[in-house]
Amino acid sequence: MSPQPKPGILDIASYTPGKAKAPGFAAPLKLSANENCLGCSEAARAAYLAAASELHLYPDANTSRLRAAIAEKFALDPQRLVFGAGSDEIFAIAAQAYLSEGDNIVQPQYAFAAWAIAARAAGGLVKSAPEADYTVDVDAMLSLVDERTRLVFIANPANPTGTWLHFTEIERLHAGLPPHILLVLDGAYAECAAGVAGFLDGMDWAENKNNVLVTRTFSKMYGLASLRIGWAYAPRPVAEALSRIRLPFSVPRAGEAAAVAALADDAFLQLSVAHVAEQRPRLAQALAALGARTLPSAANFVTAQFPHAVLTAADIEARLAQRGILVRHLKTYAMPDWLRVSVGREAEIDALIGALTDILESADRA
Ligand SMILES: Cc1ncc(COP(=O)(O)O)c(C=O)c1O
Repeated sequence: MSPQPKPGILDIASYTPGKAKAPGFAAPLKLSANENCLGCSEAARAAYLAAASELHLYPDANTSRLRAAIAEKFALDPQRLVFGAGSDEIFAIAAQAYLSEGDNIVQPQYAFAAWAIAARAAGGLVKSAPEADYTVDVDAMLSLVDERTRLVFIANPANPTGTWLHFTEIERLHAGLPPHILLVLDGAYAECAAGVAGFLDGMDWAENKNNVLVTRTFSKMYGLASLRIGWAYAPRPVAEALSRIRLPFSVPRAGEAAAVAALADDAFLQLSVAHVAEQRPRLAQALAALGARTLPSAANFVTAQFPHAVLTAADIEARLAQRGILVRHLKTYAMPDWLRVSVGREAEIDALIGALTDILESADRA
């Protein structure tokens, strides 16, 4: 006779974040959640601190300053922007708005975990399309679409793999969908891939098609993960539907102020993107030199398979944690042999590789 959640809620596995603690280390080296290793813009930090005098005030429910700043910077219609507590909130409200009980979403086999949680919480089912060698397979996605499909999700670049799709593939995916299905393009790592030939962030599709929603975040390359600021660009009717049900004050004043300042600080964004472009290959090569298979990443992390004779990927994650280094074992993403490692600072990558070398060599000797 106790209160019962509606059917399905207790079947949802809650989101597992990248580990943040290593026992015995006050400040572990955290390479487990794809945060910006350079921190954030100084201007954003100053704006955040300046907002400390306004803690007693509710946020602006319309997120007007950030709305205007994003619209101006990316030449977008401000009325078609939607804001949320991270892009996570946008996935949740898209699922609430478009899924009825028994409807489904289609996502790739290796998909960001928050989409399925959002879908199931809204009463939806999740259909996962097999990937071709850890890359989204458009044909497999399209073949899963049925009369109850309402949303199709992909991230480009993808998490947890880091792989990405050429824009012609996304066009093919879109062209294969009936117009009543909303294609959600999650661009959490889009800034990292901006310079890659054949990559498009999808804003033009959101602008010109009736059924494309593009999500972006300040959590990754802008370095503001703690402030939870995500946004989306959508056709006007989609933006209106989402805005009706979003939590009115989910973007806090201090967060909005910091995001406006971060957006104006192109130098920091470019530094962050250049750092990833320079250090990601170095990290990938060093992992490969230790015997790992690495996936070609366009994001700020490298996903690596460790078919070590003695140690499992879980063992390696645990032994790194014993040395104060946190990486992400991809067990919860059904990639149990794989680790995902965020691109750190140069010295952090060296520390990781030094520790890994030692761990693998000691295991080989034992
Ligand atoms: C593909 C992808 N989408 C969205 C998010 C969540 O972003 P936010 O912090 O804006 O909720 C992440 C975070 O790891 C991600 O990897």
